Amino acid sequence: MIAPVQQIVPMQRRHIAAIAALEAASFSAPWDEASIRAELDNPLALWLVAEGADGGVLGYVGSQSCFEDADILNVCVAPEARRQGVAEALMRELELQLPAKGVEKITLEVRSSNTPAIRLYEKLGYAQMGVRRGYYEKPREDAWIMQKQLKRQDGQPVPYEF
Ligand SMILES: CC(C)(COP(=O)(O)OP(=O)(O)OC[C@H]1O[C@@H](n2cnc3c(N)ncnc32)[C@H](O)[C@@H]1OP(=O)(O)O)[C@@H](O)C(=O)NCCC(=O)NCCS
Repeated sequence: MIAPVQQIVPMQRRHIAAIAALEAASFSAPWDEASIRAELDNPLALWLVAEGADGGVLGYVGSQSCFEDADILNVCVAPEARRQGVAEALMRELELQLPAKGVEKITLEVRSSNTPAIRLYEKLGYAQMGVRRGYYEKPREDAWIMQKQLKRQDGQPVPYEF
């Protein structure tokens, strides 16, 4: 058990090395430092970082959006900080911030065997919309496409279009 989330902040340069290290340790097709750094200058990107009390990176979520559609690119929590609500806090904060960019719908892909992530997304109200057969490599595996419709500012769900 380590310190809880101190704050959730937009990704900054000082986070990049830690994020790249978590990417390399967690994913079969990790983002490298240069790709992550480029997101700082990408107007479509919104990446959030959960910092611990010492300013260290506990976890992060990366997204890109275009008009009403956002894609979650990655979400990851340091192994020693898992099961303490870090990913849920990051995802909820992202959902609070994306509507200011006009986003109404969030889509993501997840390995079909990734039960922790699928449970996280289901808890937050994402539903499976389809499957991309053999989408992932190392190992080859299907991707579940999951999606969530955000609420409008008046609290009503945005009419579903797909
Ligand atoms: C998936 C991941 C981001 C979850 O992060 P986390 O901070 O541990 O998740 P949280 O503590 O916020 O959990 C929130 C909910 O997710 C689900 N969940 C998280 N980890 C779980 C696990 N190991 N088993 C089952 N459900 C899990 C639960 O529903 C949990 O709610 P609960 O605590 O009320 O049961 C983390 O395991 C991780 O970084 N995995 C490696 C990278 C990865 O696979 N990312 C997803 C790519 S699509």
